[in-house]
Amino acid sequence: NNSEHVSRGVLIVLEGLDRCGKTTQCGKLVSFLEGRGLPVEAWRFPDRNTDIGRMISSYLTNRSQLDDQAIHLLFSANRWEKRSLMENKLRNGTTLVVDRYSYSGVSFSAAKGLDIEWCKAPEKGLIAPDLVVYLDIMPEEAASRGGYGSERYEQLEFQRNVAHCYQILHDAAWKVIDARLPLDSIENQIQGLALESIKSCQKKPLSTLWL
Ligand code: TYD
Repeated sequence: NNSEHVSRGVLIVLEGLDRCGKTTQCGKLVSFLEGRGLPVEAWRFPDRNTDIGRMISSYLTNRSQLDDQAIHLLFSANRWEKRSLMENKLRNGTTLVVDRYSYSGVSFSAAKGLDIEWCKAPEKGLIAPDLVVYLDIMPEEAASRGGYGSERYEQLEFQRNVAHCYQILHDAAWKVIDARLPLDSIENQIQGLALESIKSCQKKPLSTLWL
C-alpha cells in the first residue's frame, strides 16, 4: 500500500513548426487533465517573463541582434533557470504540459547551420520529457495558415530547415501526429498519449536529456 506516496507528475512537451497548432493543443490538453482532477500546469519556452526571456523576446522581434551561438545559449539558459522549479513541481505530482523545449532549441539553431552536437551540448542534463508530441505539418501548409507573424523565424525557407532538423532528433519519447487532421481528432490522440504516459511513468524516475 503506497497511498501516502505521491506519484510524480509527467513532463509532456509539444513540438512543431511555427503555426502547427501546438499552442492550441497545449491549452486543450491542460483543460482535459484538469477536468480529470489531475494537478497540471501549462508551461512554455521561451519563458519571456525572466531577464533572459526578455533578451530572447527582444531578439525574436528584431529589436536586438545577437550571434547565433549567443542566442542559442540564452534559449538554453532560459530552460536551465527553470529546471529546479520544474523538478520540484514534477516531484510534487504536478504534470507539466510544455509548449516547446530543447527540441526547438536544437532544431531552430541547427537550421541556421550550427553543428547539431554543439547545439545539443548545453541541453544535456535538463529533465528529459516523458512524452514528446510532434505536430507534423508541411512548412508550406503552416505558412498558409493565416500567415506568419512578424517574428524573425517565421519564414518558409527557414521553417523547411527546422523541419529537417526536428527529424534528426526524434527519440523513444517522441510521438508524431498529423497536424492536418481535424482539431478534435488531434486533441483526442494527444489525450490518449498523455493518459498512457501518466500511467506508465508512475514508477519511472525522472531522467535527464541526452547524456
Ligand atoms: P514561441 O514563443 O513558441 O513563439 P510562437 O508562440 O510564435 O510559436 O517561440 C518563439 C520562437 O522561438 C519560435 O520561432 C521557436 C523559437 N525557439 C528557438 O529558436 N529556440 C528555443 O529554444 C525555443 C524554445 C524556441
